[in-house]
Formats: sequence, structure tokens, C-alpha cells
Amino acid sequence: MQNGAEVTLSQKLLEQRLTRPFKYFDRVESTNDVAKAWLATGAPEGALVLANEQTRGRGRKGRDWHSPPNVALALSLILKPDSAFLPRLNMIAALSVYDLVRECGCEDVGIKWPNDVQVNGLKVSGVLPEAVWEGDQLRGAILGIGVNVRMDFSGSELRHSAISLEAVVKRRLERSELIASLLRRIDYWYAHIASATVYSTWKARLNTLNQAVAVEGVKGVALDVTADGALLIRDEKGHIHQSGTGDLIVYAIDSLDK
Ligand code: BTN
Repeated sequence: MQNGAEVTLSQKLLEQRLTRPFKYFDRVESTNDVAKAWLATGAPEGALVLANEQTRGRGRKGRDWHSPPNVALALSLILKPDSAFLPRLNMIAALSVYDLVRECGCEDVGIKWPNDVQVNGLKVSGVLPEAVWEGDQLRGAILGIGVNVRMDFSGSELRHSAISLEAVVKRRLERSELIASLLRRIDYWYAHIASATVYSTWKARLNTLNQAVAVEGVKGVALDVTADGALLIRDEKGHIHQSGTGDLIVYAIDSLDK
């Protein structure tokens, strides 16, 4: 612990900061799973699940998301958007984290398609949106967000791809404050979900366009993104491919010739 600042989040700290209904856990398997269960039993829109530690945090594509105690934000927000706007949840989450990270003082910030926020080219946050359907009715959506606040990646294989906020800003950050700021940004962007501004701002903040990329075996140049958030890639034969989800690998532009 440095400077006597908070290490463990607590119900009390969060009560001082949050006005929405929330459930806080010192340790939980996955906040997204708790949020889904809460949605099923009638959680109101805007309800929030937070944890100081996740023991089975989930990432995109069925991967694990490492959430040790005291070092990250792990939260899941319950939303009830019109189903037409579901593709914008990714954008809203990424934009909100982008704003938070800028507010903290980070300068080299970008969104790597579809929703990773990067600082200095390294991942500081991941987003896992999950829709919950009942037949053809959208019951709600869970917006799961993880932010690396003071994770130590130095001895880990992730050190070349991930970074923590405190390592960039070189000062102690209070997680309950970060959570309150992040929620303010999410409320702002969610209020604009029907506006084309969400798409245009997300697109403007992407650091992926005009890069040489590979997604799900398709290699080419990232040309554009659609209003639904899909990535358009032009391969070396000039064919255009569209990817709605997937893991993006960014290459040096000259690797396309090889
Ligand atoms: C990714 O793979 O980049 C997405 C990671 C999303 C992690 C967050 S942490 C809070 C919420 N609960 C989970 O189990 N996952 C998300």
C-alpha cells in the first residue's frame, strides 16, 4: 500500500459515491453472472454489480479475465436498451472508459476495435457486453467492464500487451472515485444511445483504421467500421470482408506484401 490510499473497496466507500442500486462483493466468481441473475429477478435499469476480486472473471470469446483482489475495476451494469441499439453498447462502454482514462491524465489513448481501450498502445480495459433474451424479447443487457488500475504485469507474459492506469499516471488512484467517474460517463453516453454521435465519436477514437490487421484469418487493411460496429477489411486482392466480432491483430503495414 502506498500513501495510505484505499486498497480494498468496501460497501461503505461505494455507498458514499453511488446513488444507484448496487451489489458489492469482496470476492465473486463473475460480476456479469451475478448481474444476469439479478436481471432475471427484476433488477431495475442502471443497477450495478461490483467486486474487489473475481475468481472466474470472463473475457471475450470464452476466455478467462484475470481479476485479482485490490488492483482493478470489475463491474457489470444492467441496462435495458431498445434492441436496435444493442450494437452501440460496445461503443458506449469503450467511449466511457476512454473518457475516464483521459480524465485521469493519460494522453496517448485509443480504442482498439471493437472495444479495448489502450493507453500507449497497451490494453488498459476490456468490455464484455451480454444480451439476455426471452424468446424474441430483449430482457436486458449486461455491460461488463474491467479496468486495470494497479495490476502488476511486469513478470507476466501480458507485459507487452497490457498496462495499468497507475503505471501511466504515476500516482495513486482511488477505485471508488474511478467507478463514480466511469458511471457518469456511461450515463452520458447511454443518454445519447439513439444519436449518431455515439458511432461517429467511437469511430473517431478508434486507432485501428488504416492499419494492417488480421481478424479471424482475414488479413488486410482496416478500411472502415459500419454503424453497427462491424469492421471492414480489404484483403490484398481488393476483396472487402466484414467482421462483426473477433480478435484483431495489428501488423506493421509493410507485412501485407509478405
Ligand atoms: C475482454 O476480453 O477484453 C473483456 C473483459 C471483460 C471483463 C469484465 S470484468 C467485469 C465483468 N465480469 C466478467 O466476468 N467479465 C467482465
